[in-house]
Amino acid sequence: MNETIMDDADAWYRRAEQKAAHYFAELHRQMTGKSYVPALTEDIRQWKRNPIHQTVLSLMARSARKPDSRHYDRYIQWLKYTGKLDDYLDRSVSYIYMRDLGQALDAPRTQQKIRKVVNEVKEKLIRSSKQGEGGQADELSLASLYRWAQKEGVEDAAIWVMDKLKTVSSRLPEEMNADHALRKLIKIIVGVVLHVTDELDEEEDPVERSRRLDEAIRIGYSYGLTYPFIDDLLDCGLLDAKEKQQYSEMIRVSLLQGAVPEHCDWSGSNRELVRYVHAELREAFNYIKYYQKPERLQTFYEQSYVFFQSQDMDRSKVLTNPAYTNEELYYPIILKSASSRLIVRTVLSASEDEGFDHHTFYYGIYNQLADDFADVFDDMRDGAVTPYTYYLKYRDQRPDLINPFELYWTVTAHLIHHVYQGNSKTRDVMLDRAINGLKRCKERIGMDKYNEMMDILTSGHPEFNRLIQHMVQKADDVDFYDKLLRDRLIDVLKRNRQEKEAFYDTFESVREGINHHLLIPADTAIPPMKISLIDAANHSLEGDGKRLRPVLAWVMGVQVYGLPPSSLTPLIRSLEYMHTASLIFDDLPSQDNASMRRGKPTLHQVHDSATAELTGLYLIQRATQEQASLTDFDPKAVLSLMRYSSQKAGEMSMGQAMDLQYKGMALTLEQLRAVSYYKTGIAFEACLVMPAILAQADDTEMERLKAFAYHAGIAFQIKDDLLDAEGDTLTLGKPAGKDTDNNISSFVAVLGLDAARREMWEHYCEAMDALSEMGRPSEFLKQLLHYMVSRDH
Ligand code: IPE
Ligand code: IPE
Ligand code: MG
Ligand code: MG
Ligand code: MG
Repeated sequence: MNETIMDDADAWYRRAEQKAAHYFAELHRQMTGKSYVPALTEDIRQWKRNPIHQTVLSLMARSARKPDSRHYDRYIQWLKYTGKLDDYLDRSVSYIYMRDLGQALDAPRTQQKIRKVVNEVKEKLIRSSKQGEGGQADELSLASLYRWAQKEGVEDAAIWVMDKLKTVSSRLPEEMNADHALRKLIKIIVGVVLHVTDELDEEEDPVERSRRLDEAIRIGYSYGLTYPFIDDLLDCGLLDAKEKQQYSEMIRVSLLQGAVPEHCDWSGSNRELVRYVHAELREAFNYIKYYQKPERLQTFYEQSYVFFQSQDMDRSKVLTNPAYTNEELYYPIILKSASSRLIVRTVLSASEDEGFDHHTFYYGIYNQLADDFADVFDDMRDGAVTPYTYYLKYRDQRPDLINPFELYWTVTAHLIHHVYQGNSKTRDVMLDRAINGLKRCKERIGMDKYNEMMDILTSGHPEFNRLIQHMVQKADDVDFYDKLLRDRLIDVLKRNRQEKEAFYDTFESVREGINHHLLIPADTAIPPMKISLIDAANHSLEGDGKRLRPVLAWVMGVQVYGLPPSSLTPLIRSLEYMHTASLIFDDLPSQDNASMRRGKPTLHQVHDSATAELTGLYLIQRATQEQASLTDFDPKAVLSLMRYSSQKAGEMSMGQAMDLQYKGMALTLEQLRAVSYYKTGIAFEACLVMPAILAQADDTEMERLKAFAYHAGIAFQIKDDLLDAEGDTLTLGKPAGKDTDNNISSFVAVLGLDAARREMWEHYCEAMDALSEMGRPSEFLKQLLHYMVSRDH
């Protein structure tokens, strides 16, 4: 690397380190002087006087049984019922204003804002916990994200970020904890959006507001990406020592030269992953750079470099080295924890704010020490150096080592009294948070381990320790909404991942089973022809169709209605026969004139149009024959199924006719929806309704299934239109770009790409609403819907 650049980098880091050294010396002085003990003892006394803590410490309040906070809705209801919700939200929002937004709680403007946010959140919670009583209130779902985006006019950014998150999560290596990696990324995006929301004035023009929020989402993602793809990637053990060095060098060069190299020369293994990560980080870096005011660009590079370098120094420590000084241990920690938050304002190119910088810089280490405390056993197991693991390991042979727990309380006292000038609200919130941290740790690791650790960490101060442990035991109302959301987000991500895996497992195995029963056996009674229609039908059936419709019918029939799988086989066949026939017709020169289908030449290409038409007809008749063979069911139900089926097949033909007649026309949204419902939605409806007919489900159930199918079907067709415009022929197995060639009035042709995507997500949300009305477990349908809008073929 260029030498002057390296000098710059050294200067940047030294400058930052000096600031850290100052802060550290100050803390060290306070810690050895023990001034924090009387200060905090008095703080705790004051804290106890706060009315909320008094009721809490009384026995009366404890009699109302507190539900486990994992039962989210019930917990919120309980808070409301016991009159604790306001205080709960107030301390949570106040804490976020202090920690993430760098504000002082005694400023009247901040207090006003906090009150406003508390009221908004409260209203929302009360509303959604009411909705949640019957079904599931899922405020951490893609649908609610999208609904929020619609309200704020940032649908495009929301769609963009959902796509990005999907790709990231599919690319995370196994060595990484996927749920936590995603959680961190999401948390950063939310943090950046909160930051901008807070800056936006009430009166702000809505167009400007949307523009700023759109930017915040994209910047949040761009910056947040560094967590999984720099920090976690280097930490997770996937790369060997040489690769880590190579990777770190790449990051350093980028920050120092202000540009991510265009090409990624990667000599190690994991080449494909690193290439993807490189390309994604490069895009992200350029995005952030583009939004920087030119005069702030240097600060951005400098801060990013300090952030990376401090993390890198911290990461390269090994627990087997007994000789790190306190300074070596704590400087990088002070720097990395502060800069991770300071940089948020920088990436937003926000105006400079000394208050924020000041608060945030001093705040960082507090948070880091709290986090490391909670993770100490995991870190021990992984051999990671943190102030806690290092102290636990070397405290006997190194009397000079700082006790991190003591430092933690010193920082707490320093923040309360010197950074926030003894403000009582700050004191209460900080103490709530600290005690909550200990309580959570105790719950997580269990009483014995907790006590064992406390004995070690607090040996010098039995009295102060007793005071704290008393609080940990007695104080009840010290929990925080952001922690609840954190736990819940992890839960949701985990559950979603498991449901997705289960969905693909079911999909694959049912699909395979269906494939076994699909082909039509040769009919020996018919005299041999030059081209047998049975062979022709099998040609079209054999390709790699997704079998979405019969899989759906199978799952509904077997898993939802408990019908015997073998009895359903004729229904499964009939659905795929009708669908395949519709594709054969659709591809004819008189309709879409397509040369490829399911990765093979279309039937009229292999033979001729006459054969294709007759094969289509033949398949439709075979479908009816199959339906009439549903002999294990009530004949009335079967008749009703057949009546329904032929009516719907007729309507599908009308849909295809509309599609062709509307060519080149500027359709209204109503017309677009109608065409796609008739040509596509109906087939999905049939897959849900036919098993329900056999199971003799009631009318309400039928209506709910139809509502879901209507929106899911339209969403599926919009995705098909999008893939026609954006996909490639090889992946699709059918020619891309056909709609344009044919002048079809598809969603994309009429609305354009972005609006088509918005319309797709609107139907996704509507279908999700319909699902929650269904009132039965619907994981498969939920995942199916997600698959429909995110598939690549
Ligand atoms: C294609 O359906 C026809 C449309 C309704 C858009 P699929 O995309 O389900 O096609 P296969 O069955 O997987 O080939
Ligand atoms: C066809 O829609 C719908 C049918 C059920 C036949 P498309 O014409 O868009 O289907 P593809 O893209 O050819 O599969
Ligand atoms: Mg068509
Ligand atoms: Mg077509
Ligand atoms: Mg199409």
